[in-house]
Amino acid sequence: MAKAQPASEIDFNNLGFDYMDLPYRFIAHYTNGQWDAGELSEDSTLHISEGSTSLHYGQADFEGLKAYRTKDGSINLFRPDMNAKRMHNSCERLLMPAFPEDQFIAAVKQVVAANADYVPPYGTGATLYLRPLMIGIGGNIGVHPASEYIFTIFAQPVGAYYKGGLKPTNFTTSYYDRAAPHGTGQSKVGGNYGGSLLPGDEAHKAGFSDVIYLDPATHTKIEEAGSANFFGITKDHEFVTPKSPSILPSITKYSALWIAEHRLGLKAIEGDIFINDLDRFEEAGAMGTAAVISPIGGIEYKGDLHVFYSETEVAPLTRKLYDELTGIQFGDVEAPEGWIQKVPVK
Ligand SMILES: Cc1ncc(COP(=O)(O)O)c(C=O)c1O
Repeated sequence: MAKAQPASEIDFNNLGFDYMDLPYRFIAHYTNGQWDAGELSEDSTLHISEGSTSLHYGQADFEGLKAYRTKDGSINLFRPDMNAKRMHNSCERLLMPAFPEDQFIAAVKQVVAANADYVPPYGTGATLYLRPLMIGIGGNIGVHPASEYIFTIFAQPVGAYYKGGLKPTNFTTSYYDRAAPHGTGQSKVGGNYGGSLLPGDEAHKAGFSDVIYLDPATHTKIEEAGSANFFGITKDHEFVTPKSPSILPSITKYSALWIAEHRLGLKAIEGDIFINDLDRFEEAGAMGTAAVISPIGGIEYKGDLHVFYSETEVAPLTRKLYDELTGIQFGDVEAPEGWIQKVPVK
């Protein structure tokens, strides 16, 4: 795999969401019941046993967060403490030893600082995406937790999700389930995503941007929008997002709930969203670190397309939510206490 080109040669205005082998990543090893301190490494290849539990039994979890270049040239992280906590929870679900949360945040900052040239310039809308990852390694064959683990954090510059500006896309309701009622849907574990590839592929081939998953127990309520959480805004100004034990607790979702209530004057609600009751919503969208705030034009269900505000125009409150969230992330709008952590760069 070729190393990434020098940052000075990258066209940050035209990046996608693609792997790039940047100069530095953080790597720590768990052996004999404890984590070592970890260190930056220039080696992007992992050499692991064929018996690794991550390869056979999916003992692997991960996170996703971004670093944002601000107008004054400094670098912001958005709520990395929430990613550290969620990874802790994912580790507990898979019987993996969590990497200490304060060290997780320090390691994220180390990786950003070491690759600071690759944090895209302010104004491009591009960001540095960080991928913390933990895998069970070592020689195993039985279905039991590994005794050795790798925790790593690598980084990639990624483009603005909507290069030509925000625009709505259509989703289709999936026949497949993403998660079981008491399964691993609330954890960010690799297996959840392997199972999502086929539904995503079928949706793309049918001309949709992604799928809407329904609740696995009754198939009547919206759970997730691809790899993002769903929101709807009612005609009487309620911001509603699904409450379910089998969806991923999205950091963008909790932030949007707060922004909706405190900055947009909406009533923020986590509750049931029935797929046959979409008429209550004037606007709808998907939200996540990658998706940011993505307007949903319409949702196809059993052959009918339900259009919300418009298939071509961005609805006004969705746009305000997008502006407020990205304003906070890029440092243009005042952030609630504790949401932004600065990355010290020499
Ligand atoms: C299944 C799923 N739902 C929701 C989200 C959004 O979560 P967050 O806002 O923390 O990125 C993600 C992405 O991380 C995801 O993979």
